[in-house]
Amino acid sequence: MYDLGKIIPGLIVFVGLVSFPIWYNGGNAGDIPKPEKPVNAKECVAATQYMRTTHMQMLNIWRDDVVREDGARKGATVSGTEYQRSLQNGCMKCHTSKKKFCDACHVYTAVTPYCWDCHIAPQETN
Ligand code: HEC
Ligand code: HEC
Ligand code: HEC
Repeated sequence: MYDLGKIIPGLIVFVGLVSFPIWYNGGNAGDIPKPEKPVNAKECVAATQYMRTTHMQMLNIWRDDVVREDGARKGATVSGTEYQRSLQNGCMKCHTSKKKFCDACHVYTAVTPYCWDCHIAPQETN
């Protein structure tokens, strides 16, 4: 038969170990990332909430548009200023630090977009 006297303490130790990172952080999943906001702009190319959840798809659409049909670089107008549909010459014109912006979230969520193998990230000032 099962030896409850051993199983139950065993279970308690197991649950304690598995949940350690949760209660150790006081129920938090750790510090929430704080990507640095641009200083030269107030708005993004789309609503902030949409950008938070859907920027990866937007980048894919931009890329496909630019690569498939020439001349599709124009398109993102923010507060009267025209921005290119481009990673380097669009997004990174406002989000001037890959480290303090993109990476702030990506490190936290453990995603490493391979884009920078080819695309040039802005030069970091520190
Ligand atoms: C015109 C300047 C500008 C351009 C171009 C731009 N952004 Fe933004 N972006 C901003 C600003 C300003 C905010 C913060 C808006 C706010 O505070 O609500 C922002 C917010 C975001 C956020 C949400 C950040 C957060 O704190 O949750 C993401 C993600 C983002 N941008 C990604 C991108 C990507 C990817 C591109 C290119 C496809 C891009 N942005 C192009 C200015 C820009
Ligand atoms: C507010 C947090 C946040 C910011 C800021 C942010 N990202 Fe992301 N990004 C994410 C999350 C979360 C994912 C993963 C989404 C998923 O797995 O579905 C992601 C995924 C991506 C992906 C797809 C990668 C893959 O392997 O699937 C690309 C490309 C990307 N981000 C580009 C950028 C670029 C470029 C910037 C800076 C201009 C940026 N992101 C800024 C949160 C952010
Ligand atoms: C193997 C190299 C390579 C990789 C990796 C790569 N790209 Fe590109 N990308 C290119 C080339 C080449 C172009 C065409 C450049 C042009 O016509 O200006 C391009 C164009 C683009 C464009 C439109 C033009 C521009 O200036 O940005 C976007 C947006 C883009 N890529 C996004 C991405 C994203 C997002 C990722 C990662 C998920 C990525 N790329 C990964 C090579 C690459």
